[in-house]
Amino acid sequence: MPRARHGEGRNPHAHPWFACLYGVLARVAEKGELGARRRALLASAEGRVLELGAGTGENFKHYPPQVTEVVAVEPDPHMRRQAARRIGEAAMAVELVDATGEDLPLEPSSFDTVVPTLVLCSVDDPERTLSELRRVLRPGGQLLFLEHVRARTEGLARWQDRLERPWMVVGGGCRPNRETGDAIGGNGFRLRDLETFDLRPSLPLVRPHVQGVAVAV
Ligand SMILES: C[S@@+](CC[C@H](N)C(=O)[O-])C[C@H]1O[C@@H](n2cnc3c(N)ncnc32)[C@H](O)[C@@H]1O
Repeated sequence: MPRARHGEGRNPHAHPWFACLYGVLARVAEKGELGARRRALLASAEGRVLELGAGTGENFKHYPPQVTEVVAVEPDPHMRRQAARRIGEAAMAVELVDATGEDLPLEPSSFDTVVPTLVLCSVDDPERTLSELRRVLRPGGQLLFLEHVRARTEGLARWQDRLERPWMVVGGGCRPNRETGDAIGGNGFRLRDLETFDLRPSLPLVRPHVQGVAVAV
């Protein structure tokens, strides 16, 4: 595993309690709609795949045989430890990399598919992250995403704004009110499919969700 990037100082991406809780919740959610959605989304992944913010490695088992290799970027050491235990669930080689989406230590145009699931809510700079994902994806490559986004109804959106700060504390930096679907439509990507839905079960504060495919132009 690559060297830590944070020297002796506190790692701002380390959330031990959230990583522990997320590991349990993600496994439970996997048995419901989320597991089926992950499988459907990742069915079209191919070639060399970059997974951003891999968390506890819940996606690993869903990669289809046409995927040759997965590079899984994850900046939280507690998440990375859990993901490392799940590498064996993948049918191909998985390399875990300690890095952030804003600054990927990866070559331009070196991936066929990039996968952010439930992560663009947590990165510090979504625009820069999307531009990094575009940089490492080859032209014509696919971005497969599944994210929760800002509510379409004004009442809920207002609560998402009000509760943004406390939610970030309990949710490992997650913002409930990001316009992630709209952001993916620009930044060198052309949206090909976009479905908006309420994932069940999920807390109302982190609804609705978007799932889809964007192509690098
Ligand atoms: C809610 S978890 C989702 C994990 C996984 N993608 C999934 O689908 O279950 C969000 C993940 O994003 C990671 N993350 C937070 N900030 C990040 C950043 N700047 N770059 C990459 N990953 C980040 C967190 O460490 C965490 O593992």
